[in-house]
Amino acid sequence: MSKTALITGASKGIGKELAYIFAMKGHNLVLVARSADELGRIKVEIEETYAVSVINVVADLSDAAAAQALYNEVKEKVGDIDYLVNNAGFGDYGAFVDADWDCYERMIALNVTTLTHLTHLYVKDWKGRKAGKILNVSSTAAFQPGPMMAVYFATKSFVLHLSEAVGEELKKDNITVTALCPGPTSTHFGEVSKMSASQLVKNVQIADAKEVAELGYRAMMKGKPVVIHGTMNRLAPVAIRFLPRKWVTRLSAKIMMQ
Ligand SMILES: NC(=O)c1ccc[n+]([C@@H]2O[C@H](COP(=O)([O-])OP(=O)(O)OC[C@H]3O[C@@H](n4cnc5c(N)ncnc54)[C@H](OP(=O)(O)O)[C@@H]3O)[C@@H](O)[C@H]2O)c1
Repeated sequence: MSKTALITGASKGIGKELAYIFAMKGHNLVLVARSADELGRIKVEIEETYAVSVINVVADLSDAAAAQALYNEVKEKVGDIDYLVNNAGFGDYGAFVDADWDCYERMIALNVTTLTHLTHLYVKDWKGRKAGKILNVSSTAAFQPGPMMAVYFATKSFVLHLSEAVGEELKKDNITVTALCPGPTSTHFGEVSKMSASQLVKNVQIADAKEVAELGYRAMMKGKPVVIHGTMNRLAPVAIRFLPRKWVTRLSAKIMMQ
């Protein structure tokens, strides 16, 4: 019997690539984002190419009540799902003191509250049936503080730690939680987060979104707790463990402020 994956932030970037991978593997899809037109085009293309069904839900997940509303709508239209991909997220480059509170409020609601609430709603469903897989998109930003993107880095750290802790708790219930940690990746993220113009992304290798999505998909299916994309990205968190925390923050500031 074919399974169903719910993917947030599926209209662009890593989430869109994940949608095509799940479809290619024969899974039905529930795709969520704000852009109805882009979701519409993806639905048509996927249903023409693969023998799966796609249901689109147009929703702004930076609303604190969004997760419950999405869960209710999916229950009504689709019933149970088998895979949850919490991918939607955004960042904002700039000094903490200069940003509008509204921006941080939306970022925390999307990157943290909705992700946590959806995770909670679905693991409650899955505990009894002893099956279910979650892929939470974190970032290499999760491994250290990030001056100039302080709130974004903190949200991704939250996602990493939440995923590892909940995954450990639910091992006995055959539910897996995987945190995917990409480094800079070619998507709309750079533009949305105003990072495109910063030196930071000009000096590093930018990964391909499809490659990152494939890595995330494989790790999720194997039930790995954490997967980091890129060799250098995998080395950095190991090196950081041997440095005093204040050095790590200063080093991060140097890189971020370039
Ligand atoms: N690209 C990178 O360098 C990078 C590195 C590490 C981690 N990440 C993480 O990867 C994830 C995916 O980002 P991406 O790089 O693929 O960026 P992207 O191309 O900007 O895609 C973001 C996706 O999230 C959706 N989204 C944004 N705000 C939303 C909202 N309020 N409600 C519902 N959907 C919303 C967008 O769709 P709509 O605009 O249509 O709503 C889009 O589908 C994010 O969690 C990001 O933090 C990215």
